[in-house]
Amino acid sequence: MKKTSLYFLDNLPSKKDFLQQLLLPDDDQLLFVFDHKLLKLPRFKIWITRFTHRYSVHAGEQLKSLDAFPVHVHKILKKCPQMNTKAFKIVSVGGGSVGDFSGFLASVLKRGVGLVHIPTTWLSAMDSAHGGKTALNVGHFKNQIGSFYNADKVFLIASILKKQPPALERSAKGELIKIAIIHGAGIFRYVQQNQQLDMVSMLPSLIKAKMKIVREDPLEKNGHRQILNLGHTVGHIIEGEYAKPHGESVMLGLLFSLRWSYQLKYINKDKFEAMERLILNHLSVANFKFYQKLLMPKKIFLKALLQDKKLTKLNKLSFIFIKSAGDIKRVKVHAKALMNEAIRQGIVK
Ligand SMILES: NC(=O)c1ccc[n+]([C@@H]2O[C@H](COP(=O)([O-])OP(=O)(O)OC[C@H]3O[C@@H](n4cnc5c(N)ncnc54)[C@H](O)[C@@H]3O)[C@@H](O)[C@H]2O)c1
Ligand SMILES: [Zn+2]
Repeated sequence: MKKTSLYFLDNLPSKKDFLQQLLLPDDDQLLFVFDHKLLKLPRFKIWITRFTHRYSVHAGEQLKSLDAFPVHVHKILKKCPQMNTKAFKIVSVGGGSVGDFSGFLASVLKRGVGLVHIPTTWLSAMDSAHGGKTALNVGHFKNQIGSFYNADKVFLIASILKKQPPALERSAKGELIKIAIIHGAGIFRYVQQNQQLDMVSMLPSLIKAKMKIVREDPLEKNGHRQILNLGHTVGHIIEGEYAKPHGESVMLGLLFSLRWSYQLKYINKDKFEAMERLILNHLSVANFKFYQKLLMPKKIFLKALLQDKKLTKLNKLSFIFIKSAGDIKRVKVHAKALMNEAIRQGIVK
């Protein structure tokens, strides 16, 4: 897989600098696919209008719809009639939904064109813009169509990222705490010691930690990359059933995984208590209250679990347990065992 270059910048680069970084003489072979909401940022609005080919989209799961995909491709081909396959690049500017859509598009358009990410949400900046996964949804089934396609370059622009509302920061914290637990060491100590997190300065180490895992299993062949699913099995069920933001659902999924890890004695009492305190410290009060009252009917929980695309024929799935910060264990468990644990923890009745 091709290697991705990262650029950490305070502000959007000038058009000239940007083209220079991309080794392009002009912007003739660039198409910006960008989240139209960003036009609310005056500096971005001026910046983007300096480029010739622009395609604005509405962020969200609908953008990733397989049914809508041909419509987008038609419009894009019309916009860029002089596309030169070798030189053409798509520049994706937006959160994870824009990145997943643009990444997939870049991987199949003319059998593959260049891809540059400018992630604008914390989630996309620390997670989805790295590692090469692209995805489209088929109806309600998320991420069923996709490819592995690394970006050539990723630009992380502090001034844009800082413009996000607090809700997006809250949601991103789930993935951040997940990486901190998986990686351990300095990142874990930092989130343990600080309630307020300096997201911008954390980005390089969070990305490095994710990429360390991705590099060992870039195409998800040997299973190692699955440890990035920590907190996601139960997280996805909560997200799907209660329409809670992804990151906040993952945070609750982390709590579930940690408590099950302790129940199965994978983690000792001291480490468990310290890690539980850390998760609770970063969980919003509203989210914690929601979790405590969450009494999901058995049937709904099981149905959501059985829809999990990672389930084997024997109704087994890889579940990610925590032994300590930086020491994660992948175990095949039966769906029934998971459900019994959910009942024991009081989130299913
Ligand atoms: N490919 C991967 O590896 C990977 C990993 C994790 C998640 N994902 C995908 O990412 C998506 C979720 O990502 P997301 O939360 O970034 O979603 P998103 O793209 O839907 O953005 C969330 C919201 O933030 C707004 N927004 C974007 N940038 C903003 C800014 N700077 N200021 C204010 N508002 C801004 C968007 O308009 C949208 O309303 C999901 O589709 C998920 O499946 C992909
Ligand atoms: Zn996630």
